[in-house]
Amino acid sequence: MSSSHYLDVLCTRRMRLRVIAPLLFVFAMLFVYVRQNDAMRRMQALWRQQSATGSLNATTMGHHPPPDVVSVDDLVEQHHGPVDWSRFAYTQYVTNSAYLCNSVMLFELLHRLDSRPDRVIMYPQHMFDPDAPGDASDKGNDARLLIKARDEYKVRLVPIQVQSRSMDDATWAESFTKLLAFNQSQYDRVLSLDSDSVVLQHMDELFLLPDCPVAMPRAYWLYPDKEILSSQIMLVKPSAKEFARVMARAEAGTRGDYDMEIVNYLYRDSALVLPHRPYDLLTSEFRSENHSWYLGTDDPAAWDPVAVFNEAKFLHFSDWPVPKPWLPMPESTRDNMQPKCRTVNGVESCVERDMWLGFYSDFTARRNRVCNTASKKRKLRR
Ligand SMILES: *[C@@H]1O[C@H](CO)[C@@H](O)[C@H](O)[C@H]1NC(C)=O
Ligand SMILES: *[C@@H]1O[C@H](CO)[C@@H](O)[C@H](O)[C@H]1NC(C)=O
Ligand SMILES: *[C@@H]1O[C@H](CO)[C@@H](O)[C@H](O)[C@H]1NC(C)=O
Repeated sequence: MSSSHYLDVLCTRRMRLRVIAPLLFVFAMLFVYVRQNDAMRRMQALWRQQSATGSLNATTMGHHPPPDVVSVDDLVEQHHGPVDWSRFAYTQYVTNSAYLCNSVMLFELLHRLDSRPDRVIMYPQHMFDPDAPGDASDKGNDARLLIKARDEYKVRLVPIQVQSRSMDDATWAESFTKLLAFNQSQYDRVLSLDSDSVVLQHMDELFLLPDCPVAMPRAYWLYPDKEILSSQIMLVKPSAKEFARVMARAEAGTRGDYDMEIVNYLYRDSALVLPHRPYDLLTSEFRSENHSWYLGTDDPAAWDPVAVFNEAKFLHFSDWPVPKPWLPMPESTRDNMQPKCRTVNGVESCVERDMWLGFYSDFTARRNRVCNTASKKRKLRR
């Protein structure tokens, strides 16, 4: 009897193990899945067509700011008093139609995120004359998109003269136009963002940083080999004096001297360095096998793609040789370049791949929705 009892116990134990172990495994998988899904959902919610009733704010997106990031409200409180957000602006510079669309997409995100400062787009004069008679339907695509930005996303239109130099190329004109941020002296501070990017969370708190001529993050992907500042995101205090310095440097520059070289030459030692976490993340980070530069630690266990995505505020498309997201990606390029799946504790994980492919497909969907003004017009006419 005692031996049969012993057998019973053994059996139930075995049974228990047989039942509990798979259950535990299922729960573990479920946890991983829900967490990953949550990040994907937030990404999609952020980029989805907003409802007519209002914008998605931080609460509706289920976003909780990480504890080590200073919140706007903390800073405002320290500021003792209401902030006059109209003294500040996010700026975009545009030299051609492709980049115009990118910029408008970025402003659409800021609008949807309830960002408070002004939004300013600097665009070539020839694209649109705000004083010309006639309504949007008479105008070209560029003008229609600018009108949409102004009317739907509360963007201020600032026509500019795109400059050129004799030995010139298009890249120089672009980087010159970016530097016009220093000339927007109707504002106390402007935040210039490269438009081949996604704003995942607004960055209004940056406008309340201590006074400085410029604040930028380091190009963490080049550090420590090269200790240079990244001009993908640049907080600028516009002034006639600084603008003159920047322009003088731009004129004196040799071929190959672009905005990044110029601001590094002038501000390398005096800029306020922004933490690249959470203000500058490259999409290629999700393809990388070594995250020590981004994370600031050699511990491979510290890499958590979902946590990194949830923390990041500004994601820049940089995946050479993968083309920029508005250009078609050849299938072979995608197959060769997309992030590899990994084996974690004996289980295959493709989180990085799913997220990375999501960055590209959502960009395409958003681009169609925001910039396809022609098809909308056709629908309206019907
Ligand atoms: C965000 O949206 C929710 C739901 O619409 C609303 O209750 C909340 O007040 C909003 N928060 C802010 C800061 O606007
Ligand atoms: C800089 O701003 C001033 C004042 O708004 C304007 O007159 C001037 O044309 C601008 N310079 C450039 C190069 O755009
Ligand atoms: C990642 O790169 C850094 C810097 O080159 C190096 O020190 C580190 O050992 C690498 N880590 C891994 C896990 O390969």
